[in-house]
Amino acid sequence: MSGFSSDWLHLRTPYDDAARNKAVLERLRDWRVRQGEIGMLDLGCGTGASLRALAPLLGGRQFWVMADHDPALLKAIPDHTARWAAAAGHAMAGDTVTGKNFSASFAPQQADLSARLDSLPLDGVRLVTASALFDLVSADWLARLVDLCRRHGLGCYAALTYDGRLDWTPVDRLDTDMHALFDQHQRGTKSFGPALGPNAADAAAAAFRAAGFTVETGPSDWQMEAEDRDMQEALLAGYVQAALDIAPDRAGEIEHWRQRRRFAIGAGTSRHRVGHTDLLAVPSA
Ligand SMILES: C[S@@+](CC[C@H](N)C(=O)[O-])C[C@H]1O[C@@H](n2cnc3c(N)ncnc32)[C@H](O)[C@@H]1O
Repeated sequence: MSGFSSDWLHLRTPYDDAARNKAVLERLRDWRVRQGEIGMLDLGCGTGASLRALAPLLGGRQFWVMADHDPALLKAIPDHTARWAAAAGHAMAGDTVTGKNFSASFAPQQADLSARLDSLPLDGVRLVTASALFDLVSADWLARLVDLCRRHGLGCYAALTYDGRLDWTPVDRLDTDMHALFDQHQRGTKSFGPALGPNAADAAAAAFRAAGFTVETGPSDWQMEAEDRDMQEALLAGYVQAALDIAPDRAGEIEHWRQRRRFAIGAGTSRHRVGHTDLLAVPSA
């Protein structure tokens, strides 16, 4: 339904976990220790990556409202979380996962966030989280979210927002064109309307600052080395599809670029970096 498969979200997880900006996470932990039991509202939760990345770091008693419009991804949350819990030595019973320093319960919630942002349950919620979501949203929707956070005194942690930086090694003569076509595609109309795409990270920081929040940002780039073949192949397929959607008349050139990039991936000489930005915005004291 959403175009984000459970397999893709699973493939990207280790890259996301390695990429999350440590200084921003430190600020998030500093902020969290000043709260008691806290609720998180995770927007575009997918299969629940934010809970798994943040619950041990946040510590203490937590509950998570996990909102997404895709029922298949929501259905996968308990399974993915149970597998993560087992591997990490946490205990899971029903909708609660308990580790040495935390106890987190979760409630999946099906919602089209483009329409339903203002009617989500906020009782006890102190922090809005979003991972790999902000580049999909529109300027209007971002303004609504900032206003929601301001009215309810909520913090916002938005991780892994694509920020328009891409580079490949070895360099290819068509990289710049393919990058431009990808960014144009990223700015296309998505489920939230015209997407901010590569401008989202800067736009979010500016919007929260203008609303009086204290904002911290930092890079959270994916760095793929020669051995990260599956991830590079998956991204290449996405770039090619995006480029074809925007410029079908350039199908021949795009195919040749794909072949050259695939050859480098297969030969073990390809490295690739995708620029992301993490953001923490908290209401000013
Ligand atoms: C790139 S995925 C990120 C998923 C998850 N946060 C993660 O980091 O693995 C974007 C998510 O946003 C959800 N999404 C996109 N548009 C939405 C909308 N209008 N309402 C609710 N969820 C939406 C998708 O279903 C998908 O789960």
